[in-house]
Amino acid sequence: MKILFVCLGNICRSPAAEGIFAQKAQNAGLHVEVDSAGTSAWHEGEKADHRMRQTAKARGYELTSLARPVRSSDFDNFDYLIAMDDQNYDDLRQKAADNLQMDKVLRMSDFFTRKDIDHVPDPYYGGSKGFDLVVDLLEEASENLINFIKKQ
Ligand code: 4NP
Repeated sequence: MKILFVCLGNICRSPAAEGIFAQKAQNAGLHVEVDSAGTSAWHEGEKADHRMRQTAKARGYELTSLARPVRSSDFDNFDYLIAMDDQNYDDLRQKAADNLQMDKVLRMSDFFTRKDIDHVPDPYYGGSKGFDLVVDLLEEASENLINFIKKQ
């Protein structure tokens, strides 16, 4: 099973999703390959945003990935491409070559337990609370995503 987490810049939400999900999957004894990418190439080659790395580290997650844009081969190489918000979801579905590839695109919010929010909000231009909320949402969604994969 191979999963690609996708956001806009690939420096905040999707690297956090990759790191949090990878650790929780390992703890659950689940064998998955994970990666993350951006719908833009704006930050290609950069480490995750220092605020995101700091918030994740304080919660026990080391974020080590370097930003890269989504490639068309990702739709063949991954079983699921998981979007952080609706814009990422729409952009990914537009990049898909056919219906089979389109069906691989899911939203991270599909795996939320809480129902008061329906996307992982972009924390880039906000304060520290936004980064903590990203980790809260990704921890919850990762647990439910693990259960979903176990049933596949
Ligand atoms: P991300 O956050 O999509 O969660 O990585 C952003 C990072 C950078 C920008 C926007 C969102 N930016 O405009 O450069």
